Amino acid sequence: MEKTQHFIDHNKDRFLNELFELLRIPSVSADPNFQKDVTSCAEHLVKHLQEIGLDNVELIATAGHPIVYAQKILNEALPTVLVYGHYDVQPADPLELWHTPAFEPVVKQTDIHPQGAIFARGACDDKGQFFMHVKAIEAMLQSGELPCNVKLMIEGEEEVGSPNLALFVSKNKEKLKADIILVSDTGMLANDTPSITTGLRGLSYVEVELTGPNRDLHSGLYGGCVANPINVLTKMIASLHDDNMRITIPGFYDKVVELSDEDRAEMAKAPFSEKAYCEALQIDTTYGEATYSTMERGSIRPTLDVNGIWGGYTGEGAKTVIASKAFAKISMRLVPDQDPEEITQLFLNHFERIAPKGVRVKVQPHHGGQPVVTPTNSPAYAAASKAYAHTFGKNPIPVRSGGSIPIIAMFEQELGLKTILMGFGLDSDAIHSPNEHFGLFNFYKGIATIPYFFKYFSEQQQ
Ligand code: BES
Ligand code: MN
Ligand code: MN
Repeated sequence: MEKTQHFIDHNKDRFLNELFELLRIPSVSADPNFQKDVTSCAEHLVKHLQEIGLDNVELIATAGHPIVYAQKILNEALPTVLVYGHYDVQPADPLELWHTPAFEPVVKQTDIHPQGAIFARGACDDKGQFFMHVKAIEAMLQSGELPCNVKLMIEGEEEVGSPNLALFVSKNKEKLKADIILVSDTGMLANDTPSITTGLRGLSYVEVELTGPNRDLHSGLYGGCVANPINVLTKMIASLHDDNMRITIPGFYDKVVELSDEDRAEMAKAPFSEKAYCEALQIDTTYGEATYSTMERGSIRPTLDVNGIWGGYTGEGAKTVIASKAFAKISMRLVPDQDPEEITQLFLNHFERIAPKGVRVKVQPHHGGQPVVTPTNSPAYAAASKAYAHTFGKNPIPVRSGGSIPIIAMFEQELGLKTILMGFGLDSDAIHSPNEHFGLFNFYKGIATIPYFFKYFSEQQQ
């Protein structure tokens, strides 16, 4: 991989400028106002993948946003790596909290990224990360060092739950045939502590609507005489956790796989500072389920959180009113072997059961996803580990993450393929938040590390 690394070193500035071009396209999948931008981002990618010499570059229309596909098949007898990523991004709002505009990428220094970080929506999640693969593949191709076949599938709907990718995957099993899936859409512990993500949580997401009286009421004339949907909703939500911060929905924990003491002890070895964690978030203390550490609460334990709540009067001044309706959006992060559909049903039954007379409950399920755990004793994991050891000079630590990428479990179900999650972002990179960024160190380290995965993986497959 010497020529490849040489090529990377000599094209660093161009790689960064090309990423900037991608980041300037506001490919927000959730907001219909950006539909044209999402499509033009896909088209821009198609052109770029053709330019770097990939074959069969396609823009594949779906019922939603397009999928971009490309491949380089050197020889059918060689192993094949399927790279997955997403070019769509989260909405940038609240815009006023960005120090520089979300779709005008700039490099700025931070305490954690003294060599500079790229600030833009999608810099880390996931444009900056999937683009590392595009550049690593280009470098291997141009240097004549690509050791195996490669397929690239970049979707435009990950941030809205990949509603159309699942169908595409199940209908294109032959096209997507590979030996391993490689994804950079997660994080690592720190720039001097490389890690490989070995698990993702699942997700069940519901929206609840409570209706009391048929219209908004004067809170003097009716207050105290009718069920106030906002009072009731907040009480119902509060009851979803007990004093130990355990979730009270009957059956919620039934299928949760508990870790052995050995596994927990192994997990506790990963460097983690409770103090630094609190300082970074300006909180006095962490908060969560009794008897579990912060690391465990954020990865191997299921959770329930209100993501949004609204109703009644929120404008200027005081309006004396009892609202007819109250709403909330609630996410539940799931762990093996919880099933998102089953958990949604348990939530629904419970929420309807605890609603007092005087209100009506409506629960609308949104997208969900299965949890994933990836093996650490596989040849592919060993290849990834060796690649990190080569470029970081340290063995990576296996870490289960709290985030979700619902399509990963689908890949295993539909294609029978395992995934290696080689993420290079940091938790502090503010993904989904204002001022999202991605370290230059991380971007270039990713580009340098990926070719070694290709090399070691190909060598062991032959
Ligand atoms: N890349 C993230 C998931 C992620 C980030 C996993 C960091 C591990 C570490 C992905 O784009 C994402 O945001 N997923 C959503 C779920 C999706 C259905 C909207 C999430 O986790 O909230
Ligand atoms: Mn992502
Ligand atoms: Mn995301």
